[in-house]
Amino acid sequence: MNVTFIGLGIMGRRMAANLLDNPDVTLTVCNRSLGPVAELEAAGARAADDWTTAVRDADVVFTMLASPDVVEAVAFGDGGFVAAMRDGALWVDCSTVNPSFSRRMAERTREHGRRFADAPVAGTRQPAEEGTLTFLVGGDSADYQRLEPLLRSMGEKILHVGDTGQGASFKMLVNAMLAQSMAVYSETALLGEKLGFSRDFLMQTLPGLPVSAPFLAGKAGLIRQGDYPPQFPLEWMHKDLHLLALTAYEHDQPMHLANLAKELYAGAKQAGRGRDDFAAIFEYLDNG
Ligand SMILES: NC(=O)c1ccc[n+]([C@@H]2O[C@H](COP(=O)([O-])OP(=O)(O)OC[C@H]3O[C@@H](n4cnc5c(N)ncnc54)[C@H](OP(=O)(O)O)[C@@H]3O)[C@@H](O)[C@H]2O)c1
Repeated sequence: MNVTFIGLGIMGRRMAANLLDNPDVTLTVCNRSLGPVAELEAAGARAADDWTTAVRDADVVFTMLASPDVVEAVAFGDGGFVAAMRDGALWVDCSTVNPSFSRRMAERTREHGRRFADAPVAGTRQPAEEGTLTFLVGGDSADYQRLEPLLRSMGEKILHVGDTGQGASFKMLVNAMLAQSMAVYSETALLGEKLGFSRDFLMQTLPGLPVSAPFLAGKAGLIRQGDYPPQFPLEWMHKDLHLLALTAYEHDQPMHLANLAKELYAGAKQAGRGRDDFAAIFEYLDNG
């Protein structure tokens, strides 16, 4: 199967590397900046210079791009790839985008005679590297059957959560919990320090309690080191909370706490933390 991967950032380059290990796949890669393209070419992928060349013989095209505006520009802007895909080829967008955007991409793609599925992921840099991501797939059953073996090369849990757009919908829920858990944990631990507990003690004990989300054990390690190399960049968490607010508006659902969290991440981004891991919200709440 000819597979193309577009968007080789923190996540995409690792996901594409795992596809290379699938013996049924001939992989072509393409990215705005060329460093990760050269790395994957050295590992056995075919390199393409532009989006349209990248997809010309593809059966399946994956994208893992920053935000809805970037996805739309790469897919449908000048030199966009959808028009260059073969009839009946399948575009799978793994980027985190809002559900109404995803459905719009699906409609426009179908107008061109191509197919579309949304398959955003839960899991960050390490699961992407180890091939243990969770995929949240929205799309019809035939496309899902076609996709599943490819997703198995990159993930260990593949959930078909509904029709087009439902993968993006489910991902909104996941990141709503993720963003808020991180902020609640940070604020609580900072009070713990004021109450006389050491940071080390708090970071060792709090994440193991049943009241804590499991992912916090990893984030506690970053807080202890006081260093936040990006696994999930804080600027994308702010973007996801913005997309969540938009989605809640479209469905007339108040999201009091998520909107509060959104403004905390906005402040941290403005304070220069955008390319740190989102766990840096801890330091922002500590020092501003
Ligand atoms: N990191 C995580 O833990 C994680 C987990 C789940 C989902 N996600 C989602 O996955 C997506 C990618 O995340 P990431 O962490 O891999 O982000 P990233 O490292 O910042 O990579 C972003 C990708 O988008 C490309 N891009 C950005 N602006 C562009 C433009 N104007 N034109 C063309 N390409 C552009 C980048 O190209 P360059 O390489 O040239 O900059 C890169 O390939 C985001 O939607 C994010 O919310 C991330």
